Amino acid sequence: MSNNSESLFKQISLGVYVIGVSDGNRQNAFTAAWVMQVSFNPPLLAISINPQSTSYQLLQAGGICSVNVLGQHQAALAEHFGQSAVDKMAGHQWQSAQTGAPILSESLAYFDCAVSHYSEAGDHIIAICKVVTAAKLNEGQPLLYKSTGDLDGSSQLYQ
Ligand SMILES: Cc1cc2nc3c(=O)[nH]c(=O)nc-3n(C[C@H](O)[C@H](O)[C@H](O)COP(=O)(O)O)c2cc1C
Repeated sequence: MSNNSESLFKQISLGVYVIGVSDGNRQNAFTAAWVMQVSFNPPLLAISINPQSTSYQLLQAGGICSVNVLGQHQAALAEHFGQSAVDKMAGHQWQSAQTGAPILSESLAYFDCAVSHYSEAGDHIIAICKVVTAAKLNEGQPLLYKSTGDLDGSSQLYQ
C-alpha cells in the first residue's frame, strides 16, 4: 500500500450520514461515510460498521436502522455523532417512521431500514439493509466525506 493511502481513498466519493439504531427503548446514533446503495429491487443499502462500536451491538439486537443524509452545513453534526458519548442524541429532534429507528429531523433525507443480513469485511462488518420507507426532510446539498478532512481520525488507521 502507498504511504498516501488516506488521500487516495478520499478520491472515492462518499457522503456523510448519521445512522440511527434502536433496540426497543435503547437508541443510539453514529456518523458513517461507508454507506452505499447496492440493489434496486429490493432497494438495499450497505453500511460498513465497526463491530467494536456501541451502535453495532444495538443494530445487531434491534435489526433496524435509519440512514440520515447530512448537508454541507452539518459537519458539526458529523463530528458530534462521530464520538462515543452516553447522551449524544440529547438536544436533537428525532422522529420515527415505520421500523421505529430514530430519524434525525434536521437531516436532508432519511432511509428507514431493516437489516437483511451481515457480511464480514476485514475490521468492519457490512450490514445489508432493506429500505422500508424513505423521504426528503430538508433542502440542501449532501456533505461529502472528502470535505470532512481527518474528522474520523482515519489517517492513523491505514498501515
Ligand atoms: C466523517 C466520519 C465518518 C465515519 N464513518 C464511519 C463508518 O463508515 N463506519 C463506522 O463504523 N464508523 C464510522 N465513523 C466512526 C464512528 O462514527 C465512531 O466510531 C462513533 O464513535 C461510533 O459511535 P458509537 O460508539 O456511539 O456507536 C465515522 C466518523 C466520522 C467522523
